[in-house]
Amino acid sequence: MKKQHTLKVDLPSPPPFLMKFRSIKGTKDILPADVAAWQAVERTVRRVMHDFHYREIRTPVFEQTALFSRSIGELTDIVSKEMYTFTDRSSDSITLRPEGTASTLRAYIQNNLGEASPLTKVYYIGPMFRQERPQAGRLRQFHQFGAEALGGQSPALDVEMMLLPLEIYRSLGVEAFSLKINSVGCEKCRPRYKELLKAELMKVYGRLSPESQARVQSNPLRVLDSKEEQDRAATRGIPLLQDHLCEECKKHFQGVTQLLDSLQLKHEVDPRLVRGLDYYTKTAFEITSTALGSQDALAGGGRYDLLVEELGGKPTFGVGFAAGIERLLMVLEKLEKSFVEPGPALYIVALDERSRKWAFTKASEMRKKGIQTEVDYLERSVKAQMRDANRVSAQYVLVVGEQELAAGTGKLKNMQSGAEVGVDLNDIRIG
Ligand code: HAM
Repeated sequence: MKKQHTLKVDLPSPPPFLMKFRSIKGTKDILPADVAAWQAVERTVRRVMHDFHYREIRTPVFEQTALFSRSIGELTDIVSKEMYTFTDRSSDSITLRPEGTASTLRAYIQNNLGEASPLTKVYYIGPMFRQERPQAGRLRQFHQFGAEALGGQSPALDVEMMLLPLEIYRSLGVEAFSLKINSVGCEKCRPRYKELLKAELMKVYGRLSPESQARVQSNPLRVLDSKEEQDRAATRGIPLLQDHLCEECKKHFQGVTQLLDSLQLKHEVDPRLVRGLDYYTKTAFEITSTALGSQDALAGGGRYDLLVEELGGKPTFGVGFAAGIERLLMVLEKLEKSFVEPGPALYIVALDERSRKWAFTKASEMRKKGIQTEVDYLERSVKAQMRDANRVSAQYVLVVGEQELAAGTGKLKNMQSGAEVGVDLNDIRIG
């Protein structure tokens, strides 16, 4: 039976249009009360990226569909079932970006960024779109910050991609995370290993989950990082790519682990880590948080040395990472980190109409001096204005009326201590 909702108070029913529109499933409003935390994260991202000498890139939120299907891989979950794809009025197939790497590389190629410098280091912050089943930490419009370094093959860059998010987390007070790394090989060693893996998986085919069975031929590596217990049991003891890497990949991976060791950065080699995007070569990594539930991946990334060429550019080494902002905010909330915006430095309470006009002019003068100032716009009583000053956590309140205007002086009240000091209305100094 449908649950009946009864209104506790007798309110006039709202006009129908007010009730009609709801945000789309899997999207969230970021409300003024949430914004301080978002801004703190964004500020930290920008500061750390700046310290590592990455420069910001902003690409459009929609692109040609083929850009994503070509780079992320036709058979991945993202491309096969999660993209927001539509045909526009010019009959072009358009997709809302599900991630930032493909767009960044498209911009890099299109704008010849490689010509200006042998190594291009860029970062981005912005919304991404995937039509996944919404749950805690999984949205349809979510936000990532990420970075890409194009033009370098040094393992130091792979490690830098792990250091960037970890430094951002550390700056925000998040220390409990786990870093998993793996090598997914390259075009020389992976195809050979894939054939071997397919043959081995066929031997245990009947014991695999239907989802993994479907992947044996098309994407056998993904079977290895299936979370299903059934698949884990069936593939126990199966040969892993770590033991079939070519010399170059082995050497690169050693370079990465040695650097991590020398930085004393705790990490775990997970030979089953593959990740859900097909463009990776050599290093792949994931950072998870113990504070999160099933959607515990905070960040992920890796090397993609073939992708620029695949998208029509010159052969260019590349490596990057991306991290979910909503998931980071969930961790910050669990850790009870609070971010509050301080209230306005000054609130001018006006006693009458003339003072109200004076307050409005004075406020704009104070703002020009960089002092955040608020006044009453709702023609409230003095008591209500004082209450509002308290509600918005104003640091100082100045009450002005006929008397103050005539004298040219007033009293500035420190809202925290309650102390009052006299001020010249033509020269108000705060603090
Ligand atoms: P990804 O692992 O697909 O990698 O996403 C990176 C992070 O974005 C995840 O670890 C997670 O925190 C967040 N995320 C992904 N999907 C959702 C969702 N539906 N809701 C909330 N958060 C989500 C990439 O996107 C690659 N472009 C990373 C990369 C950059 N590799 C090389 N360069």
